[in-house]
Order: sequence, then structure tokens, then C-alpha cells
Amino acid sequence: MSQPLVGIAMGSASDLATLQPAIEIVERFGVEHELRVLSAHRTPDAMADYARAAASRGLRVIIAGAGGAAHLPGMLAANTVLPVIGVPVNTTALNGLDALLSIVQMPRGVPVATVAIGGGANAGLLAVQILATSDDELLQRLLAYKEELAATARQQDADLRASRPS
Ligand code: RP5
Repeated sequence: MSQPLVGIAMGSASDLATLQPAIEIVERFGVEHELRVLSAHRTPDAMADYARAAASRGLRVIIAGAGGAAHLPGMLAANTVLPVIGVPVNTTALNGLDALLSIVQMPRGVPVATVAIGGGANAGLLAVQILATSDDELLQRLLAYKEELAATARQQDADLRASRPS
């Protein structure tokens, strides 16, 4: 197996379902990745060690999902200069709003690119897009993917219009 370029971290194994679409996207684009459970609260040292070593290990982007008091993406970002993409996970009575605000409201100097609550697929795509800025083959695959999305939308439009009398 080649060197992983994308690290996908989660605060608990219970976050895996939310991150599954991110895994599927990076796999669809043939991007090597690795998965870790790293908790900002339960395993803070392992989490910081991972972030500090990430760039020298060859990772280029980190996706991090967490719920509740979701400090994992921000604390990874505090310990690396790699881009960190945060995925708010809907795990509490607050339906993920707590995680969204915890992840998105980063202080100046330590950004986390935050996607929507449960936005695993977009996190995966953003990671691929970041890698594609220096990989032409990946860029071509992204262009083909966008065309597929557009073709699906055009087909939906045509089906809807055909199903209704004008
Ligand atoms: C967060 O607490 C995790 O990211 C997870 O979303 C949430 C619940 O954790 P467990 O109940 O699975 O331990 O730290």
C-alpha cells in the first residue's frame, strides 16, 4: 500500500457512520488514506502526537469528525500546518449544532475548514480538491465528477418536466 495522503480522524468509533461518505469519496478518487480514533479529551497526547507527525509522515490533508464539545478538529489544527477539514457529527440532543459551533468558531490564526453537520461527503471532496491543486490527474477526475453531477441534475429536470402536463 502507498503512503496515505489523507488522515481521517474521529473522536469515537461511533462517529464512523458520519465519516463513511468521506471514506467513500477518497476511495472513489483512488486517494490513499488512513483512519484513526483520536480523542481530544480522552487521548489528548496521542491526538497531538498524530497531528505533529502528520506532515513529516507524508499526509497532506486531515479530515476530523467529532460530536458534542467537538474539539478534535481544532486541536489537530493547533498541532499541524496541514489543512484540517472539520465534520460536525450529530450525536447529542442539540442535533449537531453544538459540534458545528465548536468546530467552526476557531480563533484567528488556526483555521478549520468546516463542512455542514453530517457533511462527510463534502469533507472527502474538499480533501480531494486540495490534493488536485498539485495533481493534474486528480483534477481531471474531479472535472468528470462535476460533469456527472450536472448530467444527473439535467436528467432529473427532464424527468420532472416530462411527468407533468405543461
Ligand atoms: C465525541 O463524543 C465523539 O466525537 C462522539 O461524537 C461523541 C460521543 O462519543 P461516544 O459516546 O461514542 O464515546 O467526543
